[in-house]
Amino acid sequence: MNENDQRALVRDRYGAIAAGASAPSCCGTPKADDMARRMGYGEAELALVPDGANLGLGCGNPQAIGALQPGEVVVDLGSGAGFDCFLAAAQVGPGGRVIGIDMTHEMLAKARANAAKVGHANVEFRLGEIEHLPVADNSADVVMSNCVINLSPAKAQVFAEAFRVLKPGGRLAVSDVVGLKPLPAAMAADSGLLCGCVAGAARPAELEAWMRQAGFIDIRIEEKPESRELIKDWAPGQGVEDHVVSAVITARKPGTSEGAAAMTKLEIYDPAMCCSTGVCGPQVDPTLVTFAADLKWLAEQGVAVTRYNLGQEPQAFAANPEVVREMEIGMDRLPIIAIDGHIVSIGIYPTRAQLAAKLGIKDPASPCCTPKSGCC
Ligand SMILES: C[S@@+](CC[C@H](N)C(=O)[O-])C[C@H]1O[C@@H](n2cnc3c(N)ncnc32)[C@H](O)[C@@H]1O
Repeated sequence: MNENDQRALVRDRYGAIAAGASAPSCCGTPKADDMARRMGYGEAELALVPDGANLGLGCGNPQAIGALQPGEVVVDLGSGAGFDCFLAAAQVGPGGRVIGIDMTHEMLAKARANAAKVGHANVEFRLGEIEHLPVADNSADVVMSNCVINLSPAKAQVFAEAFRVLKPGGRLAVSDVVGLKPLPAAMAADSGLLCGCVAGAARPAELEAWMRQAGFIDIRIEEKPESRELIKDWAPGQGVEDHVVSAVITARKPGTSEGAAAMTKLEIYDPAMCCSTGVCGPQVDPTLVTFAADLKWLAEQGVAVTRYNLGQEPQAFAANPEVVREMEIGMDRLPIIAIDGHIVSIGIYPTRAQLAAKLGIKDPASPCCTPKSGCC
C-alpha cells in the first residue's frame, strides 16, 4: 500500500467514527470515559471537556506528560474530536494557545463544534497532515500527540516536522503504541488492525532513530506494561497485546546554545570481524574500507568514535540493552550504530553523508548542507 492509500484508508475509518457510523477503533469500546480513566485521566479532567470530545481513541495522556505551563503554545498531532486540546487549553490559559491538527474533515468539524460549545478562545483546529504541518517554524513550546503517529506511513517525516515547528528547547510529549515483536503476516496486512493502532506500530529503536535523526535529544521511550489489558480489548481474541504496548515518548529540541554539540559519541557495534576495522584478511570488503575512512573523518570533526567487535568485546554489546534487544531479533541487525548510547542505524554501514546528517555536522562533499547547518 502506498502512502496516500494508507492515509485514505485511515481518513475513511476516522471519518466514519466521527460521523458515528463506526465504533471507536483504538480502544474498541463506547465506554470512552472508562477507557480514559484507565489511561490516567482524572475525574476533574473528564468534567472539563465538552460532551463528544472524548471518543475513547487515545492510548495515554500526552498533555499530562507535557507538563504544560501557562502561556505556552501547544500543537496536537491528530487531534480527533479535540479531547486533549481542550485539556491543554485549560492548562496554558488565556495567554497560551492550542492548535489541533487533523487530516479528517469529519473529525475537524466535530472538534470545531465541540470548541463552539465551550467557547475557548485559545484553541483552534486546522486541517492538515502531521507529515506536512500547517504550523510555522520554531513556534511551539510543546508538540503532543495521542495514539496517532502509529497510523502515519511516514513516521520519520512526522518527527522532522515536529522538530521544525518546536521552538529551541521545545518539548515532544507523545502517547503511542510501539511494537514489541513482529506481527504475524496476516495481522500485519490487516487494514482493520492498521486503522486500529496495532499494525502500524513501530519498534522503539526505530522511533528513537527517527527522533535522533530529526535532531531531538533527551529521548525517552517508556513502555507501559499495564496497557496490556486495555490493548487486549482493541481486537479481542487476537492476542494483539502480545505484540504492541502503549508507551510514553518524550524528547526535547536542543536549546540555541546546545546545538550540534549534543551528539558527539558515536559507537559502532560490528559483527565478529578479523580485526577492529574489518580491513584485514585476503578479501577486504570495500564498504568497510570506506566506512573506516569516514569514521576517521568524523573523529577529525571532534566526534568520539568507538568500535566494538563482537568477536573481541561481547561485553560492550551486553552493556547496551537496546543492542541486546536488537541482537535477540537476529544477528543480521549488526552492524548497529548508536549516537550517545541510542541506536540510529541497524543492519547497514551508513555513508559519510548519512552519518554527518545524523550527527548534525556538515559534510563538505555533500552538494547541500545538513538540516541543522541552517544554510540550505
Ligand atoms: C486514534 S485517533 C486519536 C485522536 C485523538 N488524538 C484522541 O486521542 O482522541 C487518530 C486521529 O488522527 C488522525 N490522523 C491519522 N493519521 C493522520 C495524519 N497522517 N495526519 C493528520 N491526522 C491524522 C485521524 O483522523 C484521527 O482523528
